[in-house]
Amino acid sequence: MASESGKLWGGRFAGAVDPIMERFNASIAYDRHLWEVDVQGSKAYSRGLEKAGLLTTAERDQILHGLDQVAEEWAQGTFKLHPNDEDIHTANERRLKELVGDVAGKLHTGRSRNDQVVTDLRLWMRQTCTSLSGLLRELIRTMVDRAEAERDILFPGYTHLQRAQPIRWSHWILSHAVALTRDSERLLEVQKRIDVLPLGSGAIAGNPLGVDRELLRAELNFGAITLNSMDATSERDFVVEFLFWASLCATHLSRMAEDLILYSTKEFSFVQLSDAYSTGSSLMPQKKNPDSLELIRSKAGRVFGRCAGLLMTLKGLPSTYNKDLQEDKEAVFEVSDTMSAVLQVAAGVISTLQVHRENMARALSPDMLATDLAYYLVRKGVSGAGRVAAGRGRRARAGGQAAGRDAVAQAAPCPPQMPFRRAHEASGRAVVLAESRGVALSQLSLPELQSISPLFAGDVSRVWDYGHSVEQYSALGGTARASVDWQIGQVRALLRAQRPPSPAPAPQ
Ligand code: ARG
Repeated sequence: MASESGKLWGGRFAGAVDPIMERFNASIAYDRHLWEVDVQGSKAYSRGLEKAGLLTTAERDQILHGLDQVAEEWAQGTFKLHPNDEDIHTANERRLKELVGDVAGKLHTGRSRNDQVVTDLRLWMRQTCTSLSGLLRELIRTMVDRAEAERDILFPGYTHLQRAQPIRWSHWILSHAVALTRDSERLLEVQKRIDVLPLGSGAIAGNPLGVDRELLRAELNFGAITLNSMDATSERDFVVEFLFWASLCATHLSRMAEDLILYSTKEFSFVQLSDAYSTGSSLMPQKKNPDSLELIRSKAGRVFGRCAGLLMTLKGLPSTYNKDLQEDKEAVFEVSDTMSAVLQVAAGVISTLQVHRENMARALSPDMLATDLAYYLVRKGVSGAGRVAAGRGRRARAGGQAAGRDAVAQAAPCPPQMPFRRAHEASGRAVVLAESRGVALSQLSLPELQSISPLFAGDVSRVWDYGHSVEQYSALGGTARASVDWQIGQVRALLRAQRPPSPAPAPQ
C-alpha cells in the first residue's frame, strides 16, 4: 500500500518527484471518468482472489463493501481526491484503504495497473458504444422516416457540383442513410473486439496466483478472454478501431452537412434549417447561419486527428505496456463525447429541416434530361416486345427486385438498335442546337430534332417530364419510386437486425 511518499509504488523511491513531473504523469484529471468501471473490475477481481484462496470470504466481503462505499462517494460527488492520487486506480485503492484498513492492500495481489486500466477502458467503451450505436440507429431511423414521407419531392442531383439528373429528394436522404448503416454495422464489429477481458494478465507475464480468468470473464460479462498477457496489456487495436469508426462516421456526416449547407444558401434555397439549429450574426441582422452543420463538418477533422494521433503514438512502441498508452483515454473520451453530440445534433437538424419543394422543382431544367433524350433514342431502336418490356420495366411497381429482374429478362432478347454512344452524340447535338438558338432543350421543334435523328417522333414530348424521368431508374438502387421504397425497406430491415438483444444483467 502507500509508502512514506504517499505513492502506491513509493517503496523503491527515496527522492520526491518534481511537482511538474507529478502533474505531467497524472491522468486523474480525465481517467476519473472510469470510476465506476474501475470499481466493477476491482469487485470482480476480489471475487477471483477469494476463489483462488488469496482472500478469505470475510476479507472479500469487506473489500466488496468498501468498494461499494467508494462508488457511492463518486456517485454522490463526495469523493475527495488526494494530491497524491495519480490516476483513478490509485485514487480508488487509497480511499478503499481509508475505509476498510489494511485488507485493501490485498486487492492488488497479482494484478497490475497494466491489466487493470485496459480492463476499465474496455468496460467503459462497451457501455459507450452501446449508447452511440443507439444514437446512430436513431439518426438513421429519422432519415428513413423523412425519406418515406417525402418520396414525391424531386430535385436536381449533382455530380461535380453541376446539375446532373433529376432525383427524388428521398434518394438523396437515403444515399447518406445507407452510408450510416455501414457505420452502424462497423460499430457492432468493433464492439465484438472491445468485449474481450484482459484482467488476469498482470503487468506482462500473466497471473501467478491461479486466478480463474473464466470466473473474471463471467463476473464482468465479457464475451471472451485475451489470449496472451503481453499482447493484452499493450494492444490498443480496439481503441484505434473505435477512433477509425468515429472518423469515418463523422466523415459521412460531414459530407451530408456540406450538402445541406449548400442547399440552405439563398442561391439554392432548397432547405431551411430550423431556428433550433441555426444562429444569427452579431453584425448582419439578415443572416441565419448553419452553425450546427458547420460544427458537424468540423468535428470530422478533430475526430480523425485523434485517430491519427493515437496511431502515431502506437507505431514505435516496444513490446507491452509503456506510459505512452495513457494517451488513449483522452482520445476515447473526447471522441465519444463528440460523436454523441454530433449524432444527436444531426438527428435534430434532419427532423426539423424545412424543405422548399417548389424551389427544388424550379431548379430542375430540361438540360438535365439530355441523358433521357439519348435513352429515348436507344429505346426507339428497341423493336416490338423489347420496347414493351423496357417500358414495363420503367414502370416497375413496389417489390422492386422481382419487377426489375422481369424487365431485364424480357428486354434481353431484343438488343437496342441505336448504340448508346450514337444516341449520346445525337442528344449532345440537340443541346448545342438549343443553346445556339437560345431556347431550352425541351423547346426544340420536332423537325429540328428530326434533323438530328429521324428516330425522333411526336412521343418525344414525354421525355420532358421530370416525374417520368425519375421513374425510368427502377433497377434496384435507383431513384424510381419502387426502388426508393425498396431501399427504405432494406434500411429498416437492417435497423431491425442491428437492434441489440435485451440488455445483459449489469455486473455487480
Ligand atoms: N494511468 C495509467 C494509464 O492510463 C495506468 C497504468 C499505469 N501503469 C504503469 N505501469 N505505470 O495507462
